Amino acid sequence: MNRLSRRGFLGVLAAAGGTAALAGCGALGIDTPPGQTGDVLRSAHPLPAPYTVPLPRPATRTGTEIEIVQRVADVEILPGTRTTVWGYDGTFPGPTIETRTGRPVTVRHRNELPVPTVAHLHGGHTPPESDGWPLDLLLPVGETPSHAHMPGDLAYGTRDHHYPQNQRAATLWYHDHRMDFTGPAVYKGLAGLHLVRDEVEDALPLPRGDREIPLVVCDRSFDADAQFAYPALDRSLRRVPGVDPEWMEGVLGDCILVNGAPWPVAEVDAARHRLRLLNAANARRFSLAFEPALPIVQIGSDGGLLAAPVTHRSLDVAPGERFDVVVDFGQVPVGTEVTLVNLLGTGGTREVLRFRVVRAARDDSAVPARLSEVETLVPGPVRREFVFRRGTTGDHRGWTINGRPFDPDGSQADTRLGETEVWRFRTDVHHPVHVHLDPFQVLARNGAGPGPSDGGWKDTVDVRPGEIVDVAVRFTDYAGRYVMHCHNLEHEDMAMMATVRTR
Ligand code: C2O
Ligand code: CU
Ligand code: CU
Repeated sequence: MNRLSRRGFLGVLAAAGGTAALAGCGALGIDTPPGQTGDVLRSAHPLPAPYTVPLPRPATRTGTEIEIVQRVADVEILPGTRTTVWGYDGTFPGPTIETRTGRPVTVRHRNELPVPTVAHLHGGHTPPESDGWPLDLLLPVGETPSHAHMPGDLAYGTRDHHYPQNQRAATLWYHDHRMDFTGPAVYKGLAGLHLVRDEVEDALPLPRGDREIPLVVCDRSFDADAQFAYPALDRSLRRVPGVDPEWMEGVLGDCILVNGAPWPVAEVDAARHRLRLLNAANARRFSLAFEPALPIVQIGSDGGLLAAPVTHRSLDVAPGERFDVVVDFGQVPVGTEVTLVNLLGTGGTREVLRFRVVRAARDDSAVPARLSEVETLVPGPVRREFVFRRGTTGDHRGWTINGRPFDPDGSQADTRLGETEVWRFRTDVHHPVHVHLDPFQVLARNGAGPGPSDGGWKDTVDVRPGEIVDVAVRFTDYAGRYVMHCHNLEHEDMAMMATVRTR
Protein backbone atom coordinates (compact mmCIF):
# COMPACT_ATOMS: atom_id res chain seq x y z
CA MET A 1 0.00 0.00 0.00
CA ASN A 2 2.78 2.44 0.80
CA ARG A 3 4.23 2.31 -2.68
CA LEU A 4 0.85 2.80 -4.24
CA SER A 5 -0.08 5.63 -1.98
CA ARG A 6 3.32 7.26 -2.38
CA ARG A 7 2.90 7.13 -6.12
CA GLY A 8 -0.59 8.55 -5.71
CA PHE A 9 0.76 11.42 -3.69
CA LEU A 10 3.56 12.27 -6.07
CA GLY A 11 1.22 12.05 -9.02
CA VAL A 12 -1.12 14.60 -7.48
CA LEU A 13 1.71 16.98 -6.81
CA ALA A 14 2.95 16.63 -10.35
CA ALA A 15 -0.53 17.39 -11.66
CA ALA A 16 -0.59 20.52 -9.52
CA GLY A 17 2.90 21.46 -10.65
CA GLY A 18 2.14 24.98 -11.81
CA THR A 19 0.74 26.11 -8.47
CA ALA A 20 3.35 24.15 -6.55
CA ALA A 21 6.07 26.21 -8.18
CA LEU A 22 4.35 29.41 -7.04
CA ALA A 23 3.91 28.06 -3.52
CA GLY A 24 7.66 27.91 -3.23
CA CYS A 25 7.61 31.70 -2.89
CA GLY A 26 6.26 31.27 0.62
CA ALA A 27 9.63 30.09 1.80
CA LEU A 28 11.16 33.29 0.49
CA GLY A 29 9.03 35.29 2.89
CA ILE A 30 6.40 36.65 0.52
CA ASP A 31 3.36 35.38 2.34
CA THR A 32 4.96 33.51 5.20
CA PRO A 33 4.95 35.18 8.63
CA PRO A 34 8.43 35.87 10.01
CA GLY A 35 10.02 32.96 11.84
CA GLN A 36 7.62 30.46 10.28
CA THR A 37 7.76 27.86 7.55
CA GLY A 38 4.17 27.69 6.40
CA ASP A 39 1.33 29.88 5.25
CA VAL A 40 -1.66 31.17 7.16
CA LEU A 41 -5.07 29.79 6.37
CA ARG A 42 -7.61 32.42 7.47
CA SER A 43 -10.71 31.41 9.39
CA ALA A 44 -14.06 32.06 7.69
CA HIS A 45 -15.86 31.97 11.05
CA PRO A 46 -15.57 34.90 13.48
CA LEU A 47 -13.13 34.16 16.29
CA PRO A 48 -13.78 35.03 19.94
CA ALA A 49 -12.11 37.93 21.73
CA PRO A 50 -8.99 36.65 23.49
CA TYR A 51 -9.12 35.81 27.19
CA THR A 52 -12.82 35.17 27.53
CA VAL A 53 -12.82 31.35 27.63
CA PRO A 54 -11.56 29.55 30.78
CA LEU A 55 -8.47 27.38 30.42
CA PRO A 56 -9.56 23.72 30.42
CA ARG A 57 -7.52 20.95 32.02
CA PRO A 58 -7.40 17.66 30.16
CA ALA A 59 -8.78 14.66 32.06
CA THR A 60 -6.19 12.39 33.66
CA ARG A 61 -5.86 8.61 33.25
CA THR A 62 -3.76 6.45 35.53
CA GLY A 63 -3.30 2.72 36.14
CA THR A 64 -1.40 -0.04 34.41
CA GLU A 65 -4.11 -0.88 31.87
CA ILE A 66 -5.73 2.02 30.15
CA GLU A 67 -8.22 1.92 27.32
CA ILE A 68 -8.53 4.89 25.01
CA VAL A 69 -11.39 5.06 22.52
CA GLN A 70 -10.61 7.08 19.42
CA ARG A 71 -13.88 8.55 18.28
CA VAL A 72 -15.69 11.38 16.57
CA ALA A 73 -17.20 13.98 18.90
CA ASP A 74 -18.82 17.39 18.68
CA VAL A 75 -17.21 19.77 21.13
CA GLU A 76 -17.54 23.47 21.89
CA ILE A 77 -14.35 25.29 20.92
CA LEU A 78 -15.62 28.61 19.58
CA PRO A 79 -18.24 29.75 22.12
CA GLY A 80 -21.79 28.86 21.04
CA THR A 81 -20.72 26.56 18.19
CA ARG A 82 -19.91 22.87 17.78
CA THR A 83 -16.77 21.56 16.08
CA THR A 84 -16.40 17.94 15.05
CA VAL A 85 -13.14 16.51 16.34
CA TRP A 86 -11.39 13.18 16.20
CA GLY A 87 -10.50 12.70 19.81
CA TYR A 88 -8.84 10.22 22.11
CA ASP A 89 -11.86 9.43 24.30
CA GLY A 90 -13.65 12.02 22.16
CA THR A 91 -11.74 14.94 23.67
CA PHE A 92 -9.23 17.41 22.26
CA PRO A 93 -6.61 17.24 23.56
CA GLY A 94 -6.98 13.64 24.68
CA PRO A 95 -6.73 12.62 28.34
CA THR A 96 -3.35 13.03 29.99
CA ILE A 97 -1.91 9.60 30.74
CA GLU A 98 0.09 9.61 33.98
CA THR A 99 2.60 6.86 34.63
CA ARG A 100 5.67 6.18 36.75
CA THR A 101 9.18 5.17 35.84
CA GLY A 102 9.64 1.40 36.02
CA ARG A 103 5.92 0.66 36.09
CA PRO A 104 4.93 -0.80 32.71
CA VAL A 105 1.62 0.32 31.30
CA THR A 106 -0.50 -1.09 28.52
CA VAL A 107 -2.59 1.36 26.57
CA ARG A 108 -5.28 -0.28 24.49
CA HIS A 109 -6.43 1.92 21.63
CA ARG A 110 -9.83 1.23 20.14
CA ASN A 111 -10.50 2.86 16.79
CA GLU A 112 -14.09 4.02 16.25
CA LEU A 113 -13.02 6.63 13.71
CA PRO A 114 -13.78 6.41 9.98
CA VAL A 115 -10.11 5.94 9.04
CA PRO A 116 -7.20 3.73 10.12
CA THR A 117 -4.94 5.22 12.80
CA VAL A 118 -1.50 4.67 14.33
CA ALA A 119 -0.88 5.72 17.93
CA HIS A 120 2.67 6.88 18.71
CA LEU A 121 4.06 7.82 22.11
CA HIS A 122 6.39 10.72 21.32
CA GLY A 123 9.42 10.56 23.61
CA GLY A 124 8.63 7.00 24.65
CA HIS A 125 11.44 4.46 25.07
CA THR A 126 9.28 1.86 23.42
CA PRO A 127 9.82 -1.53 21.73
CA PRO A 128 9.29 -1.31 17.96
CA GLU A 129 6.02 -3.23 17.84
CA SER A 130 4.40 -0.71 20.21
CA ASP A 131 6.05 2.45 18.91
CA GLY A 132 3.62 3.26 16.16
CA TRP A 133 5.43 2.40 12.94
CA PRO A 134 3.55 4.49 10.34
CA LEU A 135 2.33 1.42 8.43
CA ASP A 136 1.16 -0.56 11.46
CA LEU A 137 -2.43 0.46 10.90
CA LEU A 138 -5.16 0.08 13.46
CA LEU A 139 -8.23 -0.42 11.30
CA PRO A 140 -11.58 0.96 12.44
CA VAL A 141 -13.77 -1.43 14.43
CA GLY A 142 -15.61 -3.69 11.98
CA GLU A 143 -13.45 -2.87 8.98
CA THR A 144 -11.54 -5.50 7.03
CA PRO A 145 -8.75 -4.45 4.70
CA SER A 146 -9.69 -3.91 1.08
CA HIS A 147 -6.19 -4.56 -0.23
CA ALA A 148 -4.98 -8.12 -0.55
CA HIS A 149 -1.55 -7.11 0.59
CA MET A 150 -0.82 -4.42 3.12
CA PRO A 151 2.75 -4.15 4.32
CA GLY A 152 2.38 -3.23 8.00
CA ASP A 153 1.25 -5.12 11.07
CA LEU A 154 -2.50 -4.64 10.82
CA ALA A 155 -4.74 -4.63 13.87
CA TYR A 156 -8.50 -4.92 13.75
CA GLY A 157 -10.43 -2.53 15.97
CA THR A 158 -8.06 -2.52 18.94
CA ARG A 159 -4.33 -2.57 19.51
CA ASP A 160 -2.42 -2.91 22.78
CA HIS A 161 0.64 -0.71 23.10
CA HIS A 162 3.06 -1.89 25.78
CA TYR A 163 5.09 0.87 27.34
CA PRO A 164 7.80 -0.44 29.71
CA GLN A 165 8.40 3.11 31.00
CA ASN A 166 12.03 2.27 31.73
CA GLN A 167 12.86 5.93 31.27
CA ARG A 168 13.23 9.00 33.46
CA ALA A 169 10.36 11.32 34.38
CA ALA A 170 9.43 13.52 31.41
CA THR A 171 6.64 15.25 29.53
CA LEU A 172 5.76 12.96 26.64
CA TRP A 173 2.83 13.16 24.29
CA TYR A 174 0.93 10.79 22.09
CA HIS A 175 -0.52 11.48 18.70
CA ASP A 176 -1.56 9.89 15.46
CA HIS A 177 1.25 8.80 13.11
CA ARG A 178 -0.45 7.20 10.13
CA MET A 179 1.64 7.13 6.99
CA ASP A 180 0.85 10.17 4.79
CA PHE A 181 -2.03 11.40 7.03
CA THR A 182 -0.49 12.46 10.33
CA GLY A 183 -1.06 16.18 9.67
CA PRO A 184 -4.82 16.06 9.15
CA ALA A 185 -5.36 13.48 11.92
CA VAL A 186 -3.53 15.52 14.54
CA TYR A 187 -5.25 18.66 13.27
CA LYS A 188 -8.61 16.99 13.85
CA GLY A 189 -7.61 16.39 17.45
CA LEU A 190 -5.59 13.18 17.86
CA ALA A 191 -3.04 14.41 20.41
CA GLY A 192 -2.66 14.19 24.18
CA LEU A 193 -0.07 14.38 26.95
CA HIS A 194 1.60 11.44 28.65
CA LEU A 195 3.53 12.26 31.81
CA VAL A 196 6.11 9.97 33.34
CA ARG A 197 6.87 10.72 37.00
CA ASP A 198 9.62 9.38 39.24
CA GLU A 199 11.19 9.66 42.68
CA VAL A 200 13.84 12.15 41.62
CA GLU A 201 11.13 14.60 40.65
CA ASP A 202 8.96 13.76 43.68
CA ALA A 203 11.83 14.71 46.00
CA LEU A 204 12.07 18.25 44.59
CA PRO A 205 10.03 21.11 46.09
CA LEU A 206 8.55 22.07 42.70
CA PRO A 207 5.04 23.51 42.42
CA ARG A 208 2.51 20.66 42.25
CA GLY A 209 -1.20 19.91 42.31
CA ASP A 210 -3.24 22.84 40.98
CA ARG A 211 0.01 24.71 40.48
CA GLU A 212 1.27 22.25 37.89
CA ILE A 213 -0.46 23.15 34.64
CA PRO A 214 -0.13 21.27 31.35
CA LEU A 215 -0.35 23.60 28.36
CA VAL A 216 -0.94 22.02 24.96
CA VAL A 217 -0.48 24.91 22.53
CA CYS A 218 -1.49 24.76 18.87
CA ASP A 219 -3.16 26.75 16.11
CA ARG A 220 -6.24 26.01 14.06
CA SER A 221 -8.42 27.67 11.43
CA PHE A 222 -12.17 27.37 11.22
CA ASP A 223 -14.45 27.29 8.21
CA ALA A 224 -17.76 29.17 8.05
CA ASP A 225 -19.46 26.28 9.93
CA ALA A 226 -16.91 26.40 12.78
CA GLN A 227 -15.27 23.20 11.57
CA PHE A 228 -11.50 22.76 11.42
CA ALA A 229 -10.37 23.96 8.02
CA TYR A 230 -7.51 21.76 6.87
CA PRO A 231 -6.59 22.08 3.18
CA ALA A 232 -6.32 18.32 2.57
CA LEU A 233 -6.39 17.25 -1.06
CA ASP A 234 -8.61 14.30 -0.14
CA ARG A 235 -11.27 15.28 2.41
CA SER A 236 -11.96 11.61 3.18
CA LEU A 237 -8.36 11.40 4.48
CA ARG A 238 -8.10 7.87 3.21
CA ARG A 239 -6.64 7.78 -0.26
CA VAL A 240 -4.75 10.80 -1.56
CA PRO A 241 -2.29 12.32 0.91
CA GLY A 242 -1.02 15.88 0.95
CA VAL A 243 -2.40 19.40 1.09
CA ASP A 244 -3.23 22.02 -1.49
CA PRO A 245 0.17 23.01 -2.89
CA GLU A 246 -0.15 26.48 -1.41
CA TRP A 247 0.23 24.96 2.07
CA MET A 248 2.98 22.54 1.28
CA GLU A 249 5.36 24.57 3.49
CA GLY A 250 3.08 24.01 6.46
CA VAL A 251 -0.48 24.78 7.56
CA LEU A 252 -0.66 27.75 9.94
CA GLY A 253 -3.92 28.60 11.71
CA ASP A 254 -5.06 32.04 12.86
CA CYS A 255 -6.66 30.91 16.12
CA ILE A 256 -4.37 29.91 18.99
CA LEU A 257 -5.70 27.12 21.19
CA VAL A 258 -4.38 26.12 24.60
CA ASN A 259 -5.70 22.79 25.90
CA GLY A 260 -8.24 23.00 23.09
CA ALA A 261 -9.63 26.44 24.03
CA PRO A 262 -9.15 29.65 22.02
CA TRP A 263 -6.89 32.17 23.81
CA PRO A 264 -8.03 31.03 27.25
CA VAL A 265 -7.68 32.71 30.62
CA ALA A 266 -6.78 31.08 33.95
CA GLU A 267 -7.09 32.40 37.50
CA VAL A 268 -4.01 31.66 39.57
CA ASP A 269 -2.55 32.22 43.03
CA ALA A 270 0.25 34.72 43.49
CA ALA A 271 2.75 31.88 43.69
CA ARG A 272 5.13 29.76 41.64
CA HIS A 273 3.53 27.57 38.98
CA ARG A 274 5.00 24.78 36.93
CA LEU A 275 3.93 24.93 33.29
CA ARG A 276 4.45 21.92 31.06
CA LEU A 277 4.50 23.39 27.58
CA LEU A 278 3.93 21.35 24.45
CA ASN A 279 3.88 22.78 20.95
CA ALA A 280 1.31 20.48 19.33
CA ALA A 281 0.88 22.64 16.21
CA ASN A 282 1.36 21.11 12.79
CA ALA A 283 3.82 23.76 11.63
CA ARG A 284 3.68 26.91 13.78
CA ARG A 285 6.64 27.88 15.91
CA PHE A 286 6.11 29.98 19.03
CA SER A 287 8.47 32.34 20.79
CA LEU A 288 6.84 32.57 24.20
CA ALA A 289 7.28 35.39 26.69
CA PHE A 290 5.33 36.91 29.57
CA GLU A 291 3.88 40.43 29.61
CA PRO A 292 4.63 42.04 32.01
CA ALA A 293 8.00 40.38 31.67
CA LEU A 294 8.52 37.56 34.16
CA PRO A 295 11.53 35.27 34.04
CA ILE A 296 10.82 31.87 32.50
CA VAL A 297 12.77 29.38 34.59
CA GLN A 298 13.28 26.26 32.50
CA ILE A 299 13.57 23.11 34.60
CA GLY A 300 13.10 20.46 31.94
CA SER A 301 13.15 19.69 28.24
CA ASP A 302 11.75 16.90 26.06
CA GLY A 303 13.57 14.21 28.03
CA GLY A 304 12.87 15.39 31.56
CA LEU A 305 14.59 17.51 34.19
CA LEU A 306 17.70 19.52 33.37
CA ALA A 307 20.76 19.26 35.60
CA ALA A 308 20.19 22.86 36.69
CA PRO A 309 17.56 25.50 35.90
CA VAL A 310 18.08 27.97 33.03
CA THR A 311 16.37 31.36 33.00
CA HIS A 312 14.96 32.78 29.76
CA ARG A 313 13.23 36.02 28.77
CA SER A 314 11.58 34.20 25.90
CA LEU A 315 11.51 30.62 24.76
CA ASP A 316 11.32 29.37 21.17
CA VAL A 317 9.21 26.23 20.90
CA ALA A 318 9.03 24.32 17.63
CA PRO A 319 6.39 21.71 16.75
CA GLY A 320 6.85 18.58 18.86
CA GLU A 321 9.07 20.21 21.51
CA ARG A 322 8.24 20.34 25.23
CA PHE A 323 9.53 22.74 27.83
CA ASP A 324 8.98 22.35 31.54
CA VAL A 325 9.13 25.80 33.14
CA VAL A 326 8.41 27.57 36.42
CA VAL A 327 6.99 31.09 36.58
CA ASP A 328 6.49 33.04 39.81
CA PHE A 329 3.23 34.98 39.85
CA GLY A 330 4.17 36.06 43.38
CA GLN A 331 6.42 38.64 41.73
CA VAL A 332 3.45 40.75 40.63
CA PRO A 333 0.71 42.36 42.76
CA VAL A 334 -2.57 40.51 43.19
CA GLY A 335 -4.92 41.73 40.47
CA THR A 336 -2.25 41.72 37.76
CA GLU A 337 -2.99 40.10 34.43
CA VAL A 338 0.01 38.27 33.03
CA THR A 339 -0.20 37.36 29.36
CA LEU A 340 1.77 34.65 27.64
CA VAL A 341 2.46 36.07 24.20
CA ASN A 342 4.02 34.74 21.02
CA LEU A 343 6.73 37.13 19.87
CA LEU A 344 6.64 35.60 16.39
CA GLY A 345 2.96 36.43 15.93
CA THR A 346 1.02 39.53 14.95
CA GLY A 347 -2.58 40.38 15.80
CA GLY A 348 -4.37 37.27 17.05
CA THR A 349 -1.40 34.98 16.62
CA ARG A 350 0.60 37.14 19.05
CA GLU A 351 -1.87 36.29 21.82
CA VAL A 352 -1.72 32.91 23.54
CA LEU A 353 -2.95 32.69 27.13
CA ARG A 354 -3.66 34.99 30.08
CA PHE A 355 -3.20 34.40 33.78
CA ARG A 356 -5.21 36.46 36.25
CA VAL A 357 -3.37 36.60 39.55
CA VAL A 358 -6.41 36.63 41.81
CA ARG A 359 -5.27 35.83 45.34
CA ALA A 360 -2.33 35.96 47.68
CA ALA A 361 -1.29 32.51 48.80
CA ARG A 362 1.31 30.66 50.78
CA ASP A 363 4.06 29.22 48.60
CA ASP A 364 6.41 26.53 49.89
CA SER A 365 7.74 25.65 46.47
CA ALA A 366 11.23 26.38 45.20
CA VAL A 367 13.41 25.70 42.20
CA PRO A 368 16.59 24.10 43.54
CA ALA A 369 19.93 24.90 41.92
CA ARG A 370 20.45 21.17 41.29
CA LEU A 371 17.55 19.36 39.66
CA SER A 372 18.75 16.00 38.42
CA GLU A 373 21.67 13.93 37.21
CA VAL A 374 22.12 14.28 33.46
CA GLU A 375 24.66 11.90 32.01
CA THR A 376 26.80 13.48 29.28
CA LEU A 377 26.90 11.34 26.14
CA VAL A 378 30.42 10.75 24.84
CA PRO A 379 30.35 10.21 21.07
CA GLY A 380 32.15 7.31 19.42
CA PRO A 381 33.52 7.32 15.86
CA VAL A 382 30.26 6.97 13.89
CA ARG A 383 29.04 10.18 12.25
CA ARG A 384 26.09 10.65 9.94
CA GLU A 385 24.65 13.61 8.13
CA PHE A 386 20.99 14.21 7.35
CA VAL A 387 20.10 17.02 4.99
CA PHE A 388 16.49 18.18 5.28
CA ARG A 389 15.28 20.00 2.23
CA ARG A 390 12.66 20.56 -0.35
CA GLY A 391 13.01 17.83 -2.90
CA THR A 392 12.31 16.93 -6.39
CA THR A 393 12.40 13.20 -6.67
CA GLY A 394 12.11 12.62 -10.35
CA ASP A 395 9.91 15.52 -11.44
CA HIS A 396 7.79 15.58 -8.28
CA ARG A 397 7.89 18.05 -5.42
CA GLY A 398 7.94 17.11 -1.78
CA TRP A 399 10.30 17.09 1.18
CA THR A 400 13.30 14.85 1.45
CA ILE A 401 16.06 13.69 3.76
CA ASN A 402 19.38 13.29 1.97
CA GLY A 403 17.51 13.79 -1.27
CA ARG A 404 15.21 10.82 -0.70
CA PRO A 405 11.55 10.47 0.20
CA PHE A 406 10.54 8.07 3.00
CA ASP A 407 11.24 4.46 2.14
CA PRO A 408 9.82 2.14 4.79
CA ASP A 409 11.67 -0.83 3.34
CA GLY A 410 15.07 0.83 3.27
CA SER A 411 17.28 2.17 6.01
CA GLN A 412 18.99 5.51 6.29
CA ALA A 413 20.83 4.62 9.48
CA ASP A 414 21.94 1.19 10.66
CA THR A 415 22.88 1.74 14.27
CA ARG A 416 24.20 -0.44 17.07
CA LEU A 417 22.50 -0.44 20.44
CA GLY A 418 24.62 1.18 23.14
CA GLU A 419 26.89 3.14 20.77
CA THR A 420 26.83 6.91 20.81
CA GLU A 421 26.88 8.48 17.34
CA VAL A 422 27.08 12.07 16.14
CA TRP A 423 24.27 13.07 13.83
CA ARG A 424 24.46 16.30 11.87
CA PHE A 425 21.21 17.92 10.72
CA ARG A 426 21.31 20.49 7.91
CA THR A 427 18.37 22.41 6.52
CA ASP A 428 17.04 24.77 3.87
CA VAL A 429 13.98 26.19 5.72
CA HIS A 430 12.91 25.44 9.33
CA HIS A 431 12.71 21.76 10.13
CA PRO A 432 12.05 20.54 13.69
CA VAL A 433 13.86 17.20 13.62
CA HIS A 434 12.53 14.36 15.79
CA VAL A 435 14.09 10.97 16.52
CA HIS A 436 12.16 8.01 17.92
CA LEU A 437 13.26 5.50 20.62
CA ASP A 438 15.85 7.53 22.53
CA PRO A 439 16.62 11.16 23.22
CA PHE A 440 19.78 12.97 22.13
CA GLN A 441 21.93 15.82 23.34
CA VAL A 442 22.70 18.92 21.30
CA LEU A 443 26.46 19.30 20.81
CA ALA A 444 26.66 22.34 18.54
CA ARG A 445 24.74 24.84 16.42
CA ASN A 446 26.64 26.15 13.42
CA GLY A 447 29.88 25.04 14.98
CA ALA A 448 29.28 27.05 18.17
CA GLY A 449 27.95 25.58 21.41
CA PRO A 450 24.33 24.57 21.97
CA GLY A 451 21.74 27.36 22.12
CA PRO A 452 20.26 28.58 25.42
CA SER A 453 17.23 26.28 25.17
CA ASP A 454 19.09 23.25 23.78
CA GLY A 455 20.05 21.84 27.19
CA GLY A 456 19.26 18.43 28.64
CA TRP A 457 17.81 15.45 26.83
CA LYS A 458 15.98 16.38 23.64
CA ASP A 459 14.02 14.29 21.16
CA THR A 460 13.05 17.15 18.87
CA VAL A 461 15.35 19.97 17.88
CA ASP A 462 14.46 23.10 15.95
CA VAL A 463 16.88 23.38 13.05
CA ARG A 464 16.52 26.90 11.69
CA PRO A 465 16.95 27.93 8.05
CA GLY A 466 20.40 27.10 6.79
CA GLU A 467 21.56 25.80 10.14
CA ILE A 468 23.82 22.90 11.01
CA VAL A 469 23.00 21.18 14.29
CA ASP A 470 25.11 18.34 15.70
CA VAL A 471 23.62 15.98 18.27
CA ALA A 472 24.89 12.94 20.15
CA VAL A 473 22.43 10.08 20.03
CA ARG A 474 22.53 6.62 21.60
CA PHE A 475 19.89 3.96 21.11
CA THR A 476 19.43 1.33 23.81
CA ASP A 477 17.47 -1.83 24.62
CA TYR A 478 15.27 -2.41 21.60
CA ALA A 479 16.39 -3.79 18.26
CA GLY A 480 14.15 -3.04 15.34
CA ARG A 481 12.87 -0.48 12.94
CA TYR A 482 12.05 3.11 13.89
CA VAL A 483 11.68 6.46 12.19
CA MET A 484 13.24 9.89 12.43
CA HIS A 485 11.52 12.74 10.68
CA CYS A 486 10.64 16.39 10.42
CA HIS A 487 7.88 17.29 12.91
CA ASN A 488 6.38 19.91 10.63
CA LEU A 489 3.52 17.52 9.94
CA GLU A 490 2.97 18.69 6.39
CA HIS A 491 6.63 17.96 5.65
CA GLU A 492 6.37 14.61 7.41
CA ASP A 493 3.32 13.60 5.38
CA MET A 494 5.08 14.73 2.23
CA ALA A 495 7.83 12.16 2.73
CA MET A 496 10.33 13.90 5.06
CA MET A 497 10.95 10.79 7.14
CA ALA A 498 13.74 8.19 7.30
CA THR A 499 13.96 4.64 8.58
CA VAL A 500 16.42 3.98 11.40
CA ARG A 501 17.39 0.42 12.26
CA THR A 502 18.80 -0.57 15.63
CA ARG A 503 20.55 -3.86 16.30
CU1 C2O B 1 5.72 13.19 17.50
CU2 C2O B 1 7.30 10.44 14.98
O1 C2O B 1 6.43 11.80 16.21
CU1 CU C 1 8.09 10.38 18.30
CU1 CU D 1 10.42 20.06 7.74
